[in-house]
Amino acid sequence: MSADTVNATRPLAALTSGPLQGRVRVPGDKSISHRALMFGALSTGTTRLKGLLEAEDVINTAKALTALGAPIEKIGSEWHVKGRGVGGLRQPDGPLDFGNSGTGTRLMLGIIAGHDMTVELTGDASLSRRPMGRVLTPLQKMGLEIEGARDRLPLVARGSASLVPIVYELPVPSAQVKSAVLLAGLHAAGETSVIESEATRDHTERMLRHFGAEVRVAAEGGKTRITVVGDAELTGCDVVVPADPSSAAFIAAAAALVPGSDVTVEGVLINPTRIGFYEVLREMGCEVDFLDARDEGGEPVADIRVRHAPLKGVHVAAHRAPSMIDEYPILAVVSAFAAGETRMDGLAELKVKESDRLAATVAGLHANGVDAKADGDTLFVNGGRQVRGGGTVATHLDHRIAMSFLTMGLASQEPVTVDDTSMVATSFPEFLSLMQSLGARFGTSAGQA
Ligand code: S3P
Repeated sequence: MSADTVNATRPLAALTSGPLQGRVRVPGDKSISHRALMFGALSTGTTRLKGLLEAEDVINTAKALTALGAPIEKIGSEWHVKGRGVGGLRQPDGPLDFGNSGTGTRLMLGIIAGHDMTVELTGDASLSRRPMGRVLTPLQKMGLEIEGARDRLPLVARGSASLVPIVYELPVPSAQVKSAVLLAGLHAAGETSVIESEATRDHTERMLRHFGAEVRVAAEGGKTRITVVGDAELTGCDVVVPADPSSAAFIAAAAALVPGSDVTVEGVLINPTRIGFYEVLREMGCEVDFLDARDEGGEPVADIRVRHAPLKGVHVAAHRAPSMIDEYPILAVVSAFAAGETRMDGLAELKVKESDRLAATVAGLHANGVDAKADGDTLFVNGGRQVRGGGTVATHLDHRIAMSFLTMGLASQEPVTVDDTSMVATSFPEFLSLMQSLGARFGTSAGQA
């Protein structure tokens, strides 16, 4: 590790806190923010975005699109994207750096595939370890070429203005792979279909329609076929980005764990493909209410109120994993405070996120005195109402590992320290200040209680 990297890390301890109380709004949904910028760039005319997530992952997507010839600027509180139309982007002058973002990289590969250009894609140490083969395999069938036999960043990708449409059955439940293929399909002549056997987040399908693309979704023998009509024309439009349920999950968990807490998070996306965590929280005995449910810009949103209650362990079946895939680290932390065993099945995808989240979560739980084990793709946590804490957690450049264990420290007997908080800025820069505004306490070292 270089001296710069060492200096850039920011350790922090979360300290036992009193009841968390109040109303907050968390930043815009990360998945929708990436897509709104990308679809705007592929449209004719200007797209105006309200509530865009201003975090490093999304800013890197905006910079990449600007380098590809679609200028993006902030005007007042709105972001404006000057679209170039489907197939209208141009070769960038240098490499595109996606930082920590798998979503940015994989979706953009689908877009690059449809353009006659050669682009180098780079990322940080975490992103450079993540598998890209899952998007390259279908995109290469459509006409994308990759220099060398690589499936990790850095990659040099050569797109084509004459992509071939395909029918692709997802081998892993991944909205990123589905979206990359559909985005490439916009540029192909004819219809491109993706078949999924487990429902993954459907923001691409919903939002492409909003921009004027023809997208069909049909049930097919227990699976779902999603078809996009190619040579598409997208038209710039207005998008309101709802608050991110994956960010709100940390606040909801803190309220669930700290006795006496009563917290409301406003305007949160409650798309059924994203709310598995909240459903499990309810099953554990927590009071979770979706208030004033409404529609905003084609997505359902609600104010989510969470009140502390004693929790009990539950079994979370494998088929539910895609609806809460990013929430397992925080769910594991919640499980540590729930009486009895919580069993979470079907976690293979957790191993290829910003870190191996299954291993990082188990290690973090052990460091804080929690009885937990991973067995294949299953995670077992044996919880109790008291958690010792007192440990230091290795975050492995993973924002959600950092936020999960900081949340643990608010309710454990001794402070919980994470070795680095710098990556929190990739998805939720306001995490610490929002938590503090509700009553959470943080310090610079485990000794400072
Ligand atoms: C995302 C899909 C999920 C999720 C990621 C965002 C998206 O990844 O973990 O944070 O925006 O499509 P996978 O597609 O790899 O499951």
